[in-house]
Amino acid sequence: MEKGGEECLAHCIILPFPIQGHINPMLQFAKRLRHKGIKVTLAATKHLFKTMQEYSGSVAVETISDGYDEGGMASAESGEEYLARFRQVGTQTLEEVIERLKNSCCAVDCIVYDAFLPWSLDLAKKLGLVGAAFFTQSCAVDHIYHHVYKGDVKLPLSDSEILIPGLPPLKPSDMPSFLYVHGSYPPLLKMVVNQFQNIEKVDWLLFNTFHKLEEEVIDWMAKLLPVKAIGPTIPSMYLDKRIEDDIEYGLSVYKPITSECMEWLDKQESDSVIYVSFGSLAQLGKAQMEELAWGLKLSNKYFLWVVRTSEESKLPKDFAKETSEKGLIVSWCPQLDILAHKSVGCFITHCGWNSTLEALSLGVPMVAMPQWTDQSTNAKYVMDVWKMGIRAPSDENGMVSRETIFNCVGQVMEGETGEEIKKNAIKWKELAREAVDKGGSSDRNIDEFVSKLVHS
Ligand code: UDX
Repeated sequence: MEKGGEECLAHCIILPFPIQGHINPMLQFAKRLRHKGIKVTLAATKHLFKTMQEYSGSVAVETISDGYDEGGMASAESGEEYLARFRQVGTQTLEEVIERLKNSCCAVDCIVYDAFLPWSLDLAKKLGLVGAAFFTQSCAVDHIYHHVYKGDVKLPLSDSEILIPGLPPLKPSDMPSFLYVHGSYPPLLKMVVNQFQNIEKVDWLLFNTFHKLEEEVIDWMAKLLPVKAIGPTIPSMYLDKRIEDDIEYGLSVYKPITSECMEWLDKQESDSVIYVSFGSLAQLGKAQMEELAWGLKLSNKYFLWVVRTSEESKLPKDFAKETSEKGLIVSWCPQLDILAHKSVGCFITHCGWNSTLEALSLGVPMVAMPQWTDQSTNAKYVMDVWKMGIRAPSDENGMVSRETIFNCVGQVMEGETGEEIKKNAIKWKELAREAVDKGGSSDRNIDEFVSKLVHS
């Protein structure tokens, strides 16, 4: 296809929900599309664009508005208000961008939109474009939300085990928190369930996962919907090493403390360090931070702990000073480089989907301490399905004690259980690489997406 004289196979607009955990997987997918000859433009909200520390490198960026150009999502009165305004202003400004690009060398053919923003599909259809929903959470989690949408899982949940085809039997506490903790975050529950509100119009559902990882649930969902697993969207340099220009990790809301972390890790022995991070959003209570701190001290192992600046005041007084021989505490780090480092032997994680996939793809055993949203379901899979770690049990108040942390770290890093987990970690690392490598299941799915786009 030639448009305006310049070679252009097809053009996709990529629209992420403007938070860290959603932008990077979509950006990495954009890079894979670009590698296959597709022109890609990232549609970023003005506020997001302003606050990013790094830019997308090879991927073109256009700005749209969510209606909150100055303060972004945090400046909205409520989640509900933010979503409603984003829908209204986003539809209009995204349409303007697409109209403008009609006059460029390469008109837009497809909107790859974050499934949290289903109005983008209505716009795609109005403009006669292909609409592809991109799911940044696991297929299992979205399969659950789809069942809630269809009314097959009724809320509030009862205490009994939940049986959903394609999933292992789930206890209520294995379910995403918006369902399990009844009445928590109603606008967010509405948002995740509404991902399916116009799904009958969708051309593709792209999942950041890979077939062998979620085989059963992917196959189930694919009976009903045009589901394709295209992940893990880890930068190529950490996996198949095929995309040469893919040297940047992506966008980061915080500035990573890179050389200090790497130099410190270089000094430690193989598989000896505990890496601790709870992602970009989770806020632990002060008491939980203290238990975690003393649990790390009790373990007597080296640890690298990401404590965001906003969380620092929750650390026990003088903890950093008292443990400076064993531990390094930083406000943000280059997580992929940390997980890829030979010294790291265990990841205490909240089990955000990106962190889970990153640990899995880099073969790092996990101690799961889920906090909210999809994380408890991810933790269930880490422990019982992929057998790549242990979910730290909490007490009736949701607290994980220092002794529990000490025990879980010991089980993951030492003894027979530790060896078994390490073996599985190596297996998943290899399978993740295989999926995105040439001819792997995710690579073939991306090829199919590209081929249909080019020939449509
Ligand atoms: C959110 C939700 O909380 C999560 O449950 C959902 O699945 C995706 O969106 P977040 O909490 O930030 O994301 O967690 P996660 O999905 O793990 O993403 C965090 C990202 O930040 C990862 O890609 C990780 O590599 C990166 N990170 C984290 C850093 O680069 N440096 C750090 O110091 C910490």
